[in-house]
Amino acid sequence: MKILGILASHQEHGLNAQMLSEVLDNVDSGVETETIYLENYQITPHKYHEDNLVLNELAKKLMASDVWVFAAPTYFRGLSGVLKNFFDCMRPKFVYFKENGDTIPGPFKNKHYLSIGSCYVSTTENFLTGVTDEAFRTIDRVMSAAGVIKVGEIVLPGTFGMKTLPNNKKKLCHKYAKKISVRKRKDDSTVKRYIQLFFMIAVMALLTMGIQIPLAPWVSGNFWLNYLSFTIIFFVLLACILHFVTFMKHRRR
Ligand SMILES: Cc1cc2nc3c(=O)[nH]c(=O)nc-3n(C[C@H](O)[C@H](O)[C@H](O)COP(=O)(O)O)c2cc1C
Repeated sequence: MKILGILASHQEHGLNAQMLSEVLDNVDSGVETETIYLENYQITPHKYHEDNLVLNELAKKLMASDVWVFAAPTYFRGLSGVLKNFFDCMRPKFVYFKENGDTIPGPFKNKHYLSIGSCYVSTTENFLTGVTDEAFRTIDRVMSAAGVIKVGEIVLPGTFGMKTLPNNKKKLCHKYAKKISVRKRKDDSTVKRYIQLFFMIAVMALLTMGIQIPLAPWVSGNFWLNYLSFTIIFFVLLACILHFVTFMKHRRR
């Protein structure tokens, strides 16, 4: 089992580097780790018929690892240039091309990744305006094309003037260190998602039936009125819960 840390910040010992170390230094014993600092590599695009030794070396390191941990700050509300350049140049190694130009996941399919990011703006501003969203989304987009499975993300807002990591973020790093220390096969969250779905439906059905009680004088005894009121109430609750899950819960803090 090996975990590869990929640091993509201008600062080799900044906050992203600290978060990355906090994760890698706390993995289970027996798990091998390595960190690469992307600024140390001359990453250029692959040219036809020419071997690109840097890309080959990086691809080898990626292949030898089970989990990749990307640590990249937010620059101009987006992904740091060095990580974006790395992704752009690695594209031919990340994906296979079909005859019509479509891509399918390449040789790294079913590996796992964790994303780490930060920004100057405060927790509240990041929650409301999503300053770090684009950086994380870009990583997700590239990894999804490569078929690499997400384990989670660690976000550190409010970094202006900050020199060391707050304790709650250190704890979060340790939690993820344990999580990525365990070898995973493929995407093992399917069962978890079905269980979540079951409980969501169970709670919504309960709420719907509870809301229907005061409507009983009008709807009970009439199957179609009962059915219609159930459907409308259930739909409204479903819309609210989906909004919460897709918007509020994914807001980064
Ligand atoms: C070129 C550049 C652009 C930045 N753009 C933003 C930004 O748009 N929003 C923001 O909140 N912070 C921005 N920052 C602040 C970085 O996100 C901050 O320096 C980072 O959290 C520090 O991480 P580090 O210690 O690993 O370098 C920017 C910093 C640099 C150097």
